[in-house]
Amino acid sequence: MTAQIVTLPGDGIGPEVVAEGVKVLRAVADRFGHRFTFEEALIGGCAIEATGTALPEETLAACRRADAVLLGAVGGPRWSDPTAPVRPEQGLLGLRRELGLYANLRPVRLYPDLREVSPLRPERLDGVDLVVVRELTGGIYFGPRQEATEERPTAYDTMVYTAEEVERIAHVAFRLARQRRGRVTLVDKANVLATSRLWRRVVASVAASYPEVSWEPMLVDAAAMHLLRRPADFDVILTANMFGDILTDEASMLAGSMGMLPSASLGEGRRGVYEPIHGSAPDIVGQGVANPLATILSAAMLLRHSLGLEREAQAVEAAVERVLAQGYRTADIAEPGTQIVGTARMGDLVVEALAG
Ligand code: IPM
Ligand code: MG
Repeated sequence: MTAQIVTLPGDGIGPEVVAEGVKVLRAVADRFGHRFTFEEALIGGCAIEATGTALPEETLAACRRADAVLLGAVGGPRWSDPTAPVRPEQGLLGLRRELGLYANLRPVRLYPDLREVSPLRPERLDGVDLVVVRELTGGIYFGPRQEATEERPTAYDTMVYTAEEVERIAHVAFRLARQRRGRVTLVDKANVLATSRLWRRVVASVAASYPEVSWEPMLVDAAAMHLLRRPADFDVILTANMFGDILTDEASMLAGSMGMLPSASLGEGRRGVYEPIHGSAPDIVGQGVANPLATILSAAMLLRHSLGLEREAQAVEAAVERVLAQGYRTADIAEPGTQIVGTARMGDLVVEALAG
């Protein structure tokens, strides 16, 4: 097949990890006889420097034309002034919003060779295989807000959800659970928040059309604890925008590192944005040591969800598994007895494993 892929490397280590994602996609095209074309565009801090805005019109237009988008990371210390009117994160949030990508899938899979890398005791990790379904274009990220000023030192953010927004993301979670272990955990704060009480009501009614899926609500503070205490019990976690942001950083530790977790952001069509869940990692930028596996695994999700290439997606995931089994590690997942490699070498190894 032919596919047009837009890459948005962004800031910090974004360009380093996206280069490896592209390398792997090119190798997939070669090996399976597809034609992928790539177009690079600006987003985030680098876009602000070049154009004055974090999401230039051209970038958005290129993404709209594309079959899929592979994104690195946005943000960094250079743009961290909280009072600045333009911020790199606006690029990412604007893109999600403009493309209508309301469903963010963040699978947490433990590669067996990384059992010892997680800060959790290895026996706690047996059977960990969950997906967080995070609502991505609503909630407190997008509700009315007021910035504080010198004269008026009061700020607010507002969490708003409509029943329709909850309903469509609930369907995503239940459809997914139906193909998996058939369990949905709705994570909310219904003992305090009105939005969470709406979520419970809407999810209960959506659940009625999926008799083969069981579900339970769980308060977010308890969920943060249970994710560490009994992570293997979770199958699909359905949650609002900000809770999902927080819980997926926590959940990444089950997989050993932030550098291991991919994500897919999807809307009504097939087009999606694929990105590692980690940030721009300013502390290691330019050193060639960043872990590209989250981006490579995001590329696998791109093959699966936007291009419908399930076999190719599995081949990439299997290649990653093989490279880890061979003992190669980037610094963030290294252990005694393993061989530390840099970003580009890790990408090459995945390509080799794909061919072999
Ligand atoms: C993520 C990131 C973003 C978010 C930031 C960079 C705006 O943390 O994708 O998890 O909060 O959604
Ligand atoms: Mg986050």
